[in-house]
Amino acid sequence: MAAHTLSGKKILLGVCGSIAAYKACDLTRHLRKLGAEVTVVLTSGGARFVSPLTFAALSAARVYGPMFDAQDAHTIPHINLGRDHDLILVAPATAQTIARFAGGLADDLLSTLVLAADCPVLVCPAMNSRMFTHPATQANLEKISAFGYQVVPPDSGPMACKEEGPGRLPELAVMVSAVEKVFTPQDLAGKRLLITAGPTEEPLDPVRYLSNRSSGKMGYALARAALRRGGQVVLVSGPCGLEPPPGLELVSVRTAREMYEAVLERFAEVDIVVKCAAVSDFRPARCAPVKLKKKGADLFLELAANEDILHTLGTRKQGQILVGFAAESQGHLAAGKEKLAAKNLDMIVINDIQGESTGFQADTNQVTILTREGAVQELPLLSKEETAMAIFDSVVALAGGGR
Ligand SMILES: Cc1cc2nc3c(=O)[nH]c(=O)nc-3n(C[C@H](O)[C@H](O)[C@H](O)COP(=O)(O)O)c2cc1C
Repeated sequence: MAAHTLSGKKILLGVCGSIAAYKACDLTRHLRKLGAEVTVVLTSGGARFVSPLTFAALSAARVYGPMFDAQDAHTIPHINLGRDHDLILVAPATAQTIARFAGGLADDLLSTLVLAADCPVLVCPAMNSRMFTHPATQANLEKISAFGYQVVPPDSGPMACKEEGPGRLPELAVMVSAVEKVFTPQDLAGKRLLITAGPTEEPLDPVRYLSNRSSGKMGYALARAALRRGGQVVLVSGPCGLEPPPGLELVSVRTAREMYEAVLERFAEVDIVVKCAAVSDFRPARCAPVKLKKKGADLFLELAANEDILHTLGTRKQGQILVGFAAESQGHLAAGKEKLAAKNLDMIVINDIQGESTGFQADTNQVTILTREGAVQELPLLSKEETAMAIFDSVVALAGGGR
């Protein structure tokens, strides 16, 4: 479960008359789960698709609809709603409502409060693909982008009207990450990052392998954090079955050798490398072509050493910031310092893998960050998302210090 990335944020969710309006129900729940307070404003079209009652229950708040509602008039909602929120999110946004925004119309509550608002506006269009690609809609989208509203591009695919093309409401994860980005400093914008995650598997025969207990959670949290901060992310992942966040390039590998090749191939193109994967140090010297049979006797395995990816990167570094992880069960600081120097790293994150709430599998972690300049930062027990953000605070500080 992700951390409360939207804690204390007040989001006004505008829901318009699209067949995708039902997806705004899940969006409301998800934003609240991340800590946001959500106020829903339904257009008259929106209210034809999902009842205000549903949104009132899901948001645990008053739902706004018609502009001329005597019950609310004393609070001047058409002005105050825009003023009292940190973000206006319009999802789904119809062609009609986008045209209203582009034309500066104020003939319903949502369009009026958007005109009067001083907070960011995020628009997620959803409509038939011919409606979306029509020059009128495209011109309107350009217009609202020029006003500073952010438009989340729709997905392409089959639609309720049995046509295919661009116009589907973006996936929930895409909309949520666009919202999170609004509230996150974009201090990795323009940076290309390579992040590795998960374990590797070293085959012994077609059905057996050697691996380790890495869950991939820390590496995936790092990838999410880097994306949130505006970075361009390549995630090289061992097999861990986690859902990759939207908006990154995923390279799936199995063995340490495959990870070595995937990382080395991309190293020259990136600015920052965070090596969080738990790469097997050894592999079975031979992989049997058929399943090994039980023969009633002991079996001795010969292991061959795998290439040390971090060490290789350290020798080939040309200005990249190189961050390593050290999973230690004793003598953390000394072992981390030694690894930092031996592998020519810029930073090392030392992970205590002995505690129940730290290291592999857990959703929380407690790490110590060491930089090449000798700074030592001991972080408290945090969620892996918070740990990832703290690691990037240090990376950004290091990048800002000139390299
Ligand atoms: C079943 C149905 C589905 C619709 N789906 C969409 C849609 O996905 N996107 C869109 O822009 N308009 C859609 N419309 C048309 C809008 O509801 C219509 O343009 C309405 O005036 C929008 O008003 P609003 O933006 O105030 O909600 C749909 C209409 C119907 C009857």
